[in-house]
Amino acid sequence: MSLLIDCIGELFTADEDGSVHYDAALVVEDGRIAWIGHRLNRPAADDYLDLGYKAVIPGFVDSHAHLVFDGDRAGEFDARMSGEPYDGGGIRTTVTATRRADDERLRQNCARLTAEMLRQGTTTVEIKSGYGLTVEDEARSLRIAREFTRETTYLGAHTVPAGADGTVMDADEYTALAAGPMLDACAPYAKWADVFCERGAFDADQARAVLTASANAGLGLRVHANQLTAGPGVRLAVELGAASADHCTHLTDADIDALANSSTVATLLPGAEFSTRSPYPDARRLLDAGVRVALATDCNPGSSYTSSMAFCIALAVREMHLTPAEALEAATAAGADALRRRDIGRITVGARADLAVLDAPSFVHLAYRPGTPLIETVFRGGAVVH
Ligand code: NIG
Ligand code: FE
Repeated sequence: MSLLIDCIGELFTADEDGSVHYDAALVVEDGRIAWIGHRLNRPAADDYLDLGYKAVIPGFVDSHAHLVFDGDRAGEFDARMSGEPYDGGGIRTTVTATRRADDERLRQNCARLTAEMLRQGTTTVEIKSGYGLTVEDEARSLRIAREFTRETTYLGAHTVPAGADGTVMDADEYTALAAGPMLDACAPYAKWADVFCERGAFDADQARAVLTASANAGLGLRVHANQLTAGPGVRLAVELGAASADHCTHLTDADIDALANSSTVATLLPGAEFSTRSPYPDARRLLDAGVRVALATDCNPGSSYTSSMAFCIALAVREMHLTPAEALEAATAAGADALRRRDIGRITVGARADLAVLDAPSFVHLAYRPGTPLIETVFRGGAVVH
């Protein structure tokens, strides 16, 4: 079955030249884009759809989310808005709630959030573990995550948790667990491994131990890097050839140089700066240095409880000085690059037919009309899913 789609209005393909097309048409076959060109040259197809003058963009690729958890931390957010700082310590609150929850409860929460994302145009999401932090709870988090996406990430090294006696475990002992038996139990369900490399979480040596063991187990690498301080995370990510260094809020010149000379994507998570009332990363400096920049939600109950890529685009444009086109590319093709995927995040021949149709004449409205639900129709693999 082939489907011909007319896009008379704006078509943002997020392909190499990042340009916008008008009077275009697409042919979808077997869930993939089989042809793209001017409407006047379009071939025949079994079915036909006319999208009129609505803007069409690739489905968003949310390359950083923590969706397997129970409970919320609205009280912590409330306190922060009255001046309390964010230091990642609340992770343990969510760990306690998550360990108590049964599988079905975790699955329902994950289903709720992924459905919320899909309605808002996200057609690919990465999902991390990291709120279990025992061998069993990390493995079940990833088993559940795997029901929702191929892009699953083992984040056993999220924070050093409390042990059986209720006191915080020794960090080196926990690192050995995360790089050993926990990794062994999780690797079958994970495509990626991630570490929170930060003061108060894991230092460079501990992070390197978990990441190296994970790479040896066949997992790709990502790092929560330089979120709260200009620590060693970014340089470690580059040194180990990680696909992405995420957050990148506090960077030195050496960090920017390292990223610019690497294939590691800098994934910026402005929802976290919004929700922790922190300064935004210097995205312009990264882009001007030639770093590949992606945007993701970081959806989690502590530092960034948003599932909206459009909100992140609006923040990136208003607060981080990206142009609307740069922000949309960061939320689509660059997000795909952060997952080392070429088959998503762009509207090109051979890519999966993941599209979002906006109830707006231009993609610029994503930032121009913040907080407005503009996603009208979502296609994934050529099928209408919203
Ligand atoms: O990406 N930085 C570490 N992890 C999450 C926050 C998790 C939490 O506060 O529960 C993040 O911001
Ligand atoms: Fe995160």
